[in-house]
Amino acid sequence: MFFNDDIIEEVRLSNDIVDVVNEYVRIEKKGKNYFGICPFHKEKTPSFSVEPSKQIFYCFGCGKGGNVIHFIMQIENLSFVDAVKFLAERARIVLPDEGSREELEKARKRREIININTEAARFFHENLKKNPAALRYLESRGIKESTIRKFGLGYSPEEWDSLYKYLKSKGFDERLIAQSGLVIPNRRTGGYIDRFRGRIMFPIFDIRSNVIAFGGRILDTGGRSDSLQPKYMNSPETCVYNKRNNLYALNFAKNSGEKRIIVVEGYMDVISLHQGGIINTVASLGTALTENQGRLLKKYAEEVIICYDADKAGQAATMRGLDVLDSVGCNVKVLSIPDGKDPDEFIRKKGSEALKNHIDNAVSLVEYKVRVLKKQINTDTVDGKVSFINRMADILSKVENRVEMELYVKKIAKEYNISEEAIFSEIYKKTKPRTSLRGTGLKTRVFKQREAIGTDVVNVAEEKTQDILYYERLLLALLSIDNRLYRAVKKEVSVGDFTDENNRKYAKIIFERLDENKGFVPAELLNILDSEAVESFVGIIQKECNFDDNRKAVMDIIRRMKLYKLDKRKEEILRLLSDRNTLQERDVEKLKLELNSIILKRKSL
Ligand code: UTP
Ligand code: MN
Repeated sequence: MFFNDDIIEEVRLSNDIVDVVNEYVRIEKKGKNYFGICPFHKEKTPSFSVEPSKQIFYCFGCGKGGNVIHFIMQIENLSFVDAVKFLAERARIVLPDEGSREELEKARKRREIININTEAARFFHENLKKNPAALRYLESRGIKESTIRKFGLGYSPEEWDSLYKYLKSKGFDERLIAQSGLVIPNRRTGGYIDRFRGRIMFPIFDIRSNVIAFGGRILDTGGRSDSLQPKYMNSPETCVYNKRNNLYALNFAKNSGEKRIIVVEGYMDVISLHQGGIINTVASLGTALTENQGRLLKKYAEEVIICYDADKAGQAATMRGLDVLDSVGCNVKVLSIPDGKDPDEFIRKKGSEALKNHIDNAVSLVEYKVRVLKKQINTDTVDGKVSFINRMADILSKVENRVEMELYVKKIAKEYNISEEAIFSEIYKKTKPRTSLRGTGLKTRVFKQREAIGTDVVNVAEEKTQDILYYERLLLALLSIDNRLYRAVKKEVSVGDFTDENNRKYAKIIFERLDENKGFVPAELLNILDSEAVESFVGIIQKECNFDDNRKAVMDIIRRMKLYKLDKRKEEILRLLSDRNTLQERDVEKLKLELNSIILKRKSL
């Protein structure tokens, strides 16, 4: 489905980019712009900028940029149309035609399923209060009544369909109950049975504390292991629950006032830590951390500490989690729990104060990786030592900050008794030499743009074509910044003069609008671009459109466009003339005349 330009523009205008970005990234005002750590690439110093006056975001580090719609596309991983829908919903704009009815229906369904979940949580919680065995179990694990209330813990009856009957009695629609994932179809009777039976129930909340799913744990059966039953069972994915985008207890942890968040593996770990006053803790619920979870964490914390079980599976999960968090730019550390299997057990044995004191012993990603490596390799042999240094250099060579790298080298050299020089020389072998780009003013500018446009320079002709592609875009960008330039531009250039097909398309839309005296602004220009062109244009708008005199710049660009056109024709004529046997004498004369006139025109430009 497509929306018309006016609707898209209304949606864009109704969502202030600063407000929207603020919901995902921590940004601070510096001068007329806001800056923060880029959510799209790995960095430690903020190069992600939002300019309220232009309603544009742009990262000077990775080059990602666009208007508020492009921001939502990238951060929520949506198509353009879906991003418009998303923002329309946010601004309570009702979109016209089919789409909106569908969307309203979807929103209604989501609300109803959350109502069903909330009612189920209430049911489980009341049922827990009446069940001595379940209460005893929680007590045996040291969970206080206030904690049970805070986390809304419950117990699912051991009957086949007591929840299902309860929800029906509350008047919920059967199909929606089914879609909540709380019941499963009973093939024999054609009815439904409860998914969770005889389990301690953990409601899973979203960031606004809506109940979106459940986890259920079997009661320990006093040593008798029931291998048919998995220890934990969780709600399936539903229209309100996507486990890849959620972190258990983030709704509480986000208010902890702490600058760091601890990530643990399980429900019980979170609950135990919160009960011990360490409320800046969330759980990834036994699945591998995803990039979306990483971005969520980055939004709420300056530092993320992974504290997984000490077992093999936990270690592997730690490694994966580290890389995912690092790749989205989180500052990560690892907290290894000494003796004891998981954080919950540690607290029960040693108390929460002991864990609190231990948190400062968390090590950085690099140190953790080197430590694991040391455990894997026997460095008593020469071969072992060589391979240890080699693989350690791999890890260290990825540290971007020089000072930081040197500090690590010093520390590691000391810790493992290896000379600093040996480590450095291995690291240098791994780091690719950087090519230096030299150039004078304008050349550099064009070169930078070529990078932004994302093309490699192949040869001189190609280079010129890339330059002209850039100049054409620069012209359109300047027009969006200052619509008054159009009067001068119109006298010299028409849509057909744009050499690039896409640029021609954009020029057509822009010229038409300006002909109708409809103004347009840079962020609006971005609405009409193909996704490939968005970043290139934002880069141009943010970095290149800083001329003292826009009018002069525009005239200079137009001159270059004309020169390019003449040169193209000149080359063509020369090519034709070089192959004379195919030409009539008359044509040769004609071409020569044209060539002369081109040379004259060139001079006059
Ligand atoms: P753990 O086995 O470490 O669970 O699995 P836990 O939270 O420490 O539970 P206790 O202490 O034994 O009661 C970590 C997480 O992995 C998921 C759950 O989310 C659990 O909290 N998991 C584990 C499952 O989804 N299914 C399983 O069968 C086991
Ligand atoms: Mn545990």
